[in-house]
Amino acid sequence: MALSNPTGPRSGAHVSERATIVGMPVADSLYAKRAIKTLGVAGVLGAGVLAYSLAEARSYRLRSIVVPVLEPGSEPLLVLHLSDLHMTPRQTAKAGWIRALVDLEPDLVVATGDFLSHPDAVYPLVEALGPLLDVPGAFVLGSNDYYAPKFGNPLAYLLHPTNHDRGEPNLPWAELKGALSAGGWIDLSNRRDHIKVDGRLIDVRGVDDPHIKRDHYEPIAGPFDPLADLALGVTHAPYLRVLDAMADDGAQLIMAGHTHGGQVAIPGYGALVTNCDLDPARVKGLSHHRNSLLHVSAGLGTNPMTPVRFACPPEATLLTLVGRDTE
Ligand SMILES: [Fe+2]
Repeated sequence: MALSNPTGPRSGAHVSERATIVGMPVADSLYAKRAIKTLGVAGVLGAGVLAYSLAEARSYRLRSIVVPVLEPGSEPLLVLHLSDLHMTPRQTAKAGWIRALVDLEPDLVVATGDFLSHPDAVYPLVEALGPLLDVPGAFVLGSNDYYAPKFGNPLAYLLHPTNHDRGEPNLPWAELKGALSAGGWIDLSNRRDHIKVDGRLIDVRGVDDPHIKRDHYEPIAGPFDPLADLALGVTHAPYLRVLDAMADDGAQLIMAGHTHGGQVAIPGYGALVTNCDLDPARVKGLSHHRNSLLHVSAGLGTNPMTPVRFACPPEATLLTLVGRDTE
């Protein structure tokens, strides 16, 4: 077959016939070859990054931090923070990892929602929590406990906050609440309560998920109990309106999830998004909000439609609460 070369090789350039693409000038052919090569390399790199991100999403970690929030001289209080489990029935490895967390012997478990990602996941979730349900606990729900995941643009999470405005919930959220409450955990959905843990009194309040506008702070507003050893606020999504309200009422510690730590982060830079109006610098870990401490968990799961994480491994967190005089 004759290869088209209407302009001929440019001065000094040696181009073999095999390098020329049919119907294309030689210079353009070179660019096309380089583009194809680049795309090939990018494809290989992309496949590598994808494989790594799929694996990272299953590399569960325990993060341990010390939180100086109690009265000076207080004995430490161990709080296990679970969030965004996004359980489906076949996640046996994750379930086993969660179940073993009871070996940490926490004094209190706080779970900040998005337990489910499947209509049949309540029983597997209860199996995964197992003996942790016998530890004093408190929980709120997240949007994914109300609405089943559905397929969409996997990059949408990075472009704009996810949207769960889908009408009536289609996941068994009431069954979920019943299962968690039956084990003794306290439902903090727009509620406040007191928990006695290891001889300490915790005044705790929480809201239903602000991400889908189910939060109603008014019924629980007001100063925290001054006699309590800890004033604790709990929310799934750390929207500023909730953090402001809890902080202004005197919360010493606010715990949240939802962000997945950004889910896809840039090494050396950090998260790009928080999926709410919190700034990316506070996407996970311990920070301040007004006079309160804020702890955001990066969570243990992902939406099953986007089962990837990059530079942001799934986590549970053990918070050791200590006196404010502790270095
Ligand atoms: Fe989540």
